[in-house]
Amino acid sequence: MAWKLAFDIFVTVHDEESELDKAALSLLQVARQATQTAYAPYSNFYVGAAILLDDGTVVRGNNQENAAYPSGLCAERTAIFAAGANYPSQKVIMVAVTARRKDEDFFIPANPCGACRQVLAEYQHKQASPIRVIMEGGQGKIYVCDSVDMLLPMKFTSLDL
Ligand code: THU
Repeated sequence: MAWKLAFDIFVTVHDEESELDKAALSLLQVARQATQTAYAPYSNFYVGAAILLDDGTVVRGNNQENAAYPSGLCAERTAIFAAGANYPSQKVIMVAVTARRKDEDFFIPANPCGACRQVLAEYQHKQASPIRVIMEGGQGKIYVCDSVDMLLPMKFTSLDL
């Protein structure tokens, strides 16, 4: 018998950033600053990410492109790999992601790509506690997921190996 497996995906939509708590808003502001140093000469799409660790440390990342296109890396993975490399025993509490186009000063929707979702899922699984994801929604809106499970319901983890 065939049946449908359904997943509940909850995303909190804030119409204004002022609705965010202080920690989320300041992390988003760090992510916005991080777009300034993105290296994106091919796409001109500047992505910034910021990661809040358990001890209050904030790690920044941005996209780093390459003339051999697939050799570049997204902002979220640049940031979380830096966190994993430098603070391996710290839990990741929250990740903020934003984007803007070159020469524009307003921020546009930033949805982590599939590969970044998978990498976030790895760190969430490793630490066995949820990572909150704050995403720029465009036109002043902010999207918040309380867990990476909301971004990648059928994720692949070490349990599947
Ligand atoms: N990009 C990110 O940094 N994060 C994502 O989740 C989506 C895409 C970057 C990769 C590339 O440098 C540019 O955006 C255009 O795809």
